[in-house]
Amino acid sequence: MLKAEDIFRPGAFPEYTYISRTSANSGLTYEFRLNQAIKVSGFLTSLVGPSKMGKTILCEKVIGLEHIVEISGADFDEGTDFWKLVAAKAGLSYEGQFTSEQEITEVGSKFSKKETFALTKDKIIDYYKEKELVLVIDDFHYAPEVKRMQIAQQLKDAIRRGFKTIVVSLPHRADEAIRQNADLSGRLSLINMEPWTVKDLEQIAKVGFEQLGISIDTSIAGQIAVESLTSPQLMQYICLNICTILEMDRKGCNAVKQEILETAYRYTTANFEYGEVISLMKKGPNTRGKSRNKFRTKEGYEYDMYELIVKSIAENPPIMQLEFEEVKGRIYNLLADGCEKPKPQAIRDGLAKLQELLGGREDIFRVLEWKERVLYILDPLFLFYLRWGR
Ligand SMILES: Nc1ncnc2c1ncn2[C@@H]1O[C@H](COP(=O)(O)OP(=O)(O)OP(=O)(O)O)[C@@H](O)[C@H]1O
Ligand SMILES: [Mg+2]
Repeated sequence: MLKAEDIFRPGAFPEYTYISRTSANSGLTYEFRLNQAIKVSGFLTSLVGPSKMGKTILCEKVIGLEHIVEISGADFDEGTDFWKLVAAKAGLSYEGQFTSEQEITEVGSKFSKKETFALTKDKIIDYYKEKELVLVIDDFHYAPEVKRMQIAQQLKDAIRRGFKTIVVSLPHRADEAIRQNADLSGRLSLINMEPWTVKDLEQIAKVGFEQLGISIDTSIAGQIAVESLTSPQLMQYICLNICTILEMDRKGCNAVKQEILETAYRYTTANFEYGEVISLMKKGPNTRGKSRNKFRTKEGYEYDMYELIVKSIAENPPIMQLEFEEVKGRIYNLLADGCEKPKPQAIRDGLAKLQELLGGREDIFRVLEWKERVLYILDPLFLFYLRWGR
């Protein structure tokens, strides 16, 4: 019999709960679009989408494990030899098979060095073609910036010769090297992955619980989907935790009831670590000894601007994109009647400073973006943690 952890797989390929989605702007499924893109010889495929939306899983689904060769942007540092890595990941030995570059340098002939290099590359490309391999450069944004440009340069030449590549990245981050690279224009298949809708997320719960013989009402599946904040990974996580709770109960309960949801959300946050991010946000930038204005909330707390912003993001309903008016409304709503309210400009300044503070830190801290009067939450797991974590 299948176990819950086989059905709901937040960290791996979800064999039993894989949902095929239709992309809103084309009316076609993502699988179809990626397949179509790979088939066009001489083109590079650029797959872009927010964090945890299923970009990697889509590549694995469409290409299949026998034909996919995955490398990550994080595999590169400035000195990494692109073709050496591409060869190694496909199981080809690079140095043993071909004359190494160093020996050539000793001979001292520039010409022969170039030729040998081309030969090496050719062999790798031929091998990929012969075995029908597709190279997926995942999380391209993790490669150092100079390296991204070099990789794009290498790819430009290789794709022309029928080498198949998909470059996967987060929005905005790899634009220059790939999408805004003049050398590649007219040779790109672009696929933008949109956030998941509540309807599509609901399917994960329905399909999964059905296989486990557990019933779930559409309204319950819908609530979990809303809390999942457009992320299929969160949906998988929460469903798996619901199963764990049901199993612990041992009462042979085979329905997902309303009462269990909050506990399941809380258990789910145990998998994430955003404590430091949240405390940094609440502290805000260094005040250099000056004290900040405090505002009294309905619940009787005294919060400064940064604490108010953090609070307001966590409010109901959970939303990944908040217009400024919405942020302001939520903040005013938190405050006690008659309490002096912060000026809109002060809220905007607070948001800008917060973005600056987080933007200068490691990736895990880049959880939001304040741009053109809209506050974007970039990481669904962060917002989920903010709502349900301790
Ligand atoms: N089509 C799908 N159907 C059901 N669940 C899915 C689907 N796609 C993704 N998921 C779930 O979401 C998880 C994350 O997916 P994936 O790793 O592909 O996201 P990603 O966009 O590559 O994230 P990152 O930006 O971190 O690389 C998967 O492990 C799986 O649990
Ligand atoms: Mg990925």
